[in-house]
Amino acid sequence: MTKRILFVCLGNICRSPAANGILEQMVSQRGLQEKIEVDSAGTYPGHRGNLPDPRMRRAALERGYNLTHRARTISEEDFYDFDMIIVMDDSNYERVSRLAPERKYLDKLYRMAEFMTDYPDYTYVPDPYYEGVEGFYLVLNMLENGCRVLLDKLESEI
Ligand code: 4NP
Repeated sequence: MTKRILFVCLGNICRSPAANGILEQMVSQRGLQEKIEVDSAGTYPGHRGNLPDPRMRRAALERGYNLTHRARTISEEDFYDFDMIIVMDDSNYERVSRLAPERKYLDKLYRMAEFMTDYPDYTYVPDPYYEGVEGFYLVLNMLENGCRVLLDKLESEI
């Protein structure tokens, strides 16, 4: 059965589309495209339809990730459609948890930091929107670590 993974941040133009592109690339490198599907969404609709922020696209492209996702807003439906909904920070967690159709659906909700074993001091992926380029590199480092650990876990389960 296909596992469906949804990454969520605020705008769906920096952190979650980067996680989306990174995990998709790792999935295809391991030949798991038939088994794992990836998408991303935001809690804030203001950037709906947009490509990722040019600063994130540039930083990601330096590492070989071509980010082409178009921003969309998360909805209650996503709790039915996805097996794991993985948020970037506490604010995302709070907003997404309020969309859960029933309490049991909260079992699908995770924090990206749970998979970032190289960053034990972080409980969230910091919002790079108001940061310089270093903030984008830090986010990519964290997401590469988290996606690798997540994919190892998924691969061991399928
Ligand atoms: P993201 O970053 O949640 O990682 O996509 C942000 C994008 C937009 C805004 C804030 C954070 N904003 O305030 O518009």
